[in-house]
Amino acid sequence: MSIFTEKQEALVNSSWEAFEKNIPHLSILFYSSILEKVPESKDMFSFLKDFDGIPHNNPTLEVHAEKIFEMTRDSAVQLRLNGKVEVVDEVTLDYLGYVHVQRGVIDPHFLVCYVY
Ligand code: HEM
Repeated sequence: MSIFTEKQEALVNSSWEAFEKNIPHLSILFYSSILEKVPESKDMFSFLKDFDGIPHNNPTLEVHAEKIFEMTRDSAVQLRLNGKVEVVDEVTLDYLGYVHVQRGVIDPHFLVCYVY
């Protein structure tokens, strides 16, 4: 039985569709929200650490945000269909784990994923 409902998948998908319509603006909003919740994460991001605030019109930042939204959408599809996520985009979960550990991301940082 799936632990992720069709309704939840639709919610994730609609976020992805809304994001795709205005990537430049919403990427900035996305990283502003992350830095507001976890200010110390600024220096972890290669495309943020050398800037004061969030850089505008920055393709690296936009591509990164897009990748995360797309990956979240793809994961939601897998989660509903199979009850688990195996491969996300072209990267493996092992690789993603490695990147986050290497940058010093720890459990409390995942609070940025909550909307409040
Ligand atoms: C659902 C939660 C998350 C997802 C889906 C996600 C996804 C990703 C992806 C796809 C990458 C790029 C990997 C690559 O191709 O090199 C990445 C990198 C990274 N993530 Fe996350 N992430 C999440 C949560 C977080 C959190 C909570 C933090 C810290 C606040 C964080 C910090 C980073 C950093 C610092 C990088 C490296 C960026 C760079 O290239 O400089 N991530 N993440």
